[in-house]
Amino acid sequence: MTRKPSLLLLAGALLATAAGAADTDAVVQAWPARRPLRDAALEARVEAALKTLSLRQKIGQMTQPEIGAITPDEVREYAIGTVLNGGGGWPGQDRAATPAQWRALSEQFQAAALQATPGIPLLWGTDAVHGHNNVRGATLFPHNIALGATRDADLVRDIGRATARAVRASGLHWAFAPTLAVVQDIRWGRTYESFGADPALVKRLGQASVEGLQEGMKDGRGVLATAKHYIADGGTRRGIDQGVSPATPAELAQVHGAGYLGALDAGVLTVMASFSSWTDSAGHVEHGKMHGNRLLMTGVLKDRLAFDGLIVSDWDGIGQVPGCTVDDCPAAINAGIDVVMVPLHWKPFIANTVKAVEQGRIPIARVDDAVRRILRVKLSLAATTPVPATVEALQAPELARRAVRESLVLLKHSPGLLPLKPTARVLVVGPAADSLAHQSGGWSVTWQGRDTSNVDYPQGTTLLAALRQRLGATRVSYDADGSQSDPKDFDAVIAVLAETPYAEGEGDVRITENLRHSRRHPQDEAVLQRVSGRGAPVVTLLYSGRPLYVNDLANRSDAFIAAWQPGTEGAGLADLLVAPADGKPWPGFTGRLSFPWPAGPCQFSAREARPWWPVGGGLSGRETRADARPLPEPADPAPICPL
Ligand code: GLC
Repeated sequence: MTRKPSLLLLAGALLATAAGAADTDAVVQAWPARRPLRDAALEARVEAALKTLSLRQKIGQMTQPEIGAITPDEVREYAIGTVLNGGGGWPGQDRAATPAQWRALSEQFQAAALQATPGIPLLWGTDAVHGHNNVRGATLFPHNIALGATRDADLVRDIGRATARAVRASGLHWAFAPTLAVVQDIRWGRTYESFGADPALVKRLGQASVEGLQEGMKDGRGVLATAKHYIADGGTRRGIDQGVSPATPAELAQVHGAGYLGALDAGVLTVMASFSSWTDSAGHVEHGKMHGNRLLMTGVLKDRLAFDGLIVSDWDGIGQVPGCTVDDCPAAINAGIDVVMVPLHWKPFIANTVKAVEQGRIPIARVDDAVRRILRVKLSLAATTPVPATVEALQAPELARRAVRESLVLLKHSPGLLPLKPTARVLVVGPAADSLAHQSGGWSVTWQGRDTSNVDYPQGTTLLAALRQRLGATRVSYDADGSQSDPKDFDAVIAVLAETPYAEGEGDVRITENLRHSRRHPQDEAVLQRVSGRGAPVVTLLYSGRPLYVNDLANRSDAFIAAWQPGTEGAGLADLLVAPADGKPWPGFTGRLSFPWPAGPCQFSAREARPWWPVGGGLSGRETRADARPLPEPADPAPICPL
């Protein structure tokens, strides 16, 4: 006799289904409905191209190897649709490769791809996140946290345009930028990739960045932009990289989603999935890794928001989906990933994925949808470019110098100290004052930006060099640790303190640490101790990827400037430190914080209620009065912060 399921069980199942459906609806309904904008002629070309492809070729189009792991012959043999160079990936593994060498390799890949799939070009993607930062000679702009402090959308659009030109000059087509994170905990190692803590600012600047990058797509001057990392990459608990982001459906849409609405308004054609996971903190549902989240990638982004571009996975990100490996993950493709960034294990990935389709574990309709999206993106972009493969095409120094000026935030100032006179004699201290690595931060020539030296930035100007140019070498004395000089022999001391460059999780402030800069960089505190209160005013600049606790350092300074990571154009720093010699008006400090600045070593929250400075904070340098009271310094300078 078959037992009928008890009514109670049935009711429970129905309730659970209804609750699940309600949760799903709540997630989707939290977003504004958008309508697809289709171009009939483009769609006809897409359909015609799709028909020419075999299953293996379709999967080849969905595969993105790293350039160091594939040859042009293999691109042809496997009909590969796209490649990338990772941070620190260069043609021939040569960091000094010229734009012409980048261009030549790109043309080899392209020729091979067009032999395999005539009329369907290959795309080469790269992390051009503050200029074309992998290529020697490129101008490096301040990172997004600095651009957030400018609040200047026109500047951000111009930077996008200049970056697109540089990417095209090297023969590439796709920038994995902008990051649209709305960071909630500044311990995250990628805080500097974010424009700020205000969703409206992230939306406005994210839209401008995409507009600048994609503007000239059709005539070969522009590139594909990437809205990343979808979604809530900056919302993880304790800022743990690739961690879990608790958010209600409304917070997901209104806070973490704001940048994506701006990017979609700008017509962004690619989105990169986030390594992080989402937990619905209203419905108490753990949705797990974004790379396997069909509700958000397909239900929300592709259906509700009518995104008809492509979703690319992050570096081996499919391997983090439960039940998957880096070379085998039907779940991620079924959830909505269209291009799989599988840098090294791309051959087994292709074999496994073809088999999964043949066995029905991936519907062919899903593959066709993915390839349609890839073709739509490819056919929206001119495959060739008029931009010359020259170093000059990688550079925009005056634009970068302007960005540096507009991004600096003055947190403390003795009225009248700045600007220094053009005849001032200055003592410069701090090893970072002559380091383009510290001046540029992560994602600079290499992934972490740490293992580089000034020779890697022939186009760059350190602050020290800029001061020598501005004041004359005889008026500038450099003493890296401040131990060889007597400050009273000078009109002012300029001290440069810096975080060691980092990228991604390597930059996370661990839960056993805190935000006190002196704790993590005691040598900086020592330098300041040697020069502070010794007969000359001290102007301190901090190169950092995030706000830090610096009360002890600010108390030993007469001016304190948040300089973020200015990039290659140190002249922009000197523009605000020294009065113009030609009598032009001094611009003053217009940068204002896009994150709160901590008043204590444990103030991690981007929504801190009682910071030293709030979002929007900062001085102009023209104030006539200053609060001379020293900032409080806790008895225990290095507490273990509450979890
Ligand atoms: C990295 C980053 C992503 C980047 C990608 C390719 O892991 O998360 O932002 O675009 O890999 O370098």
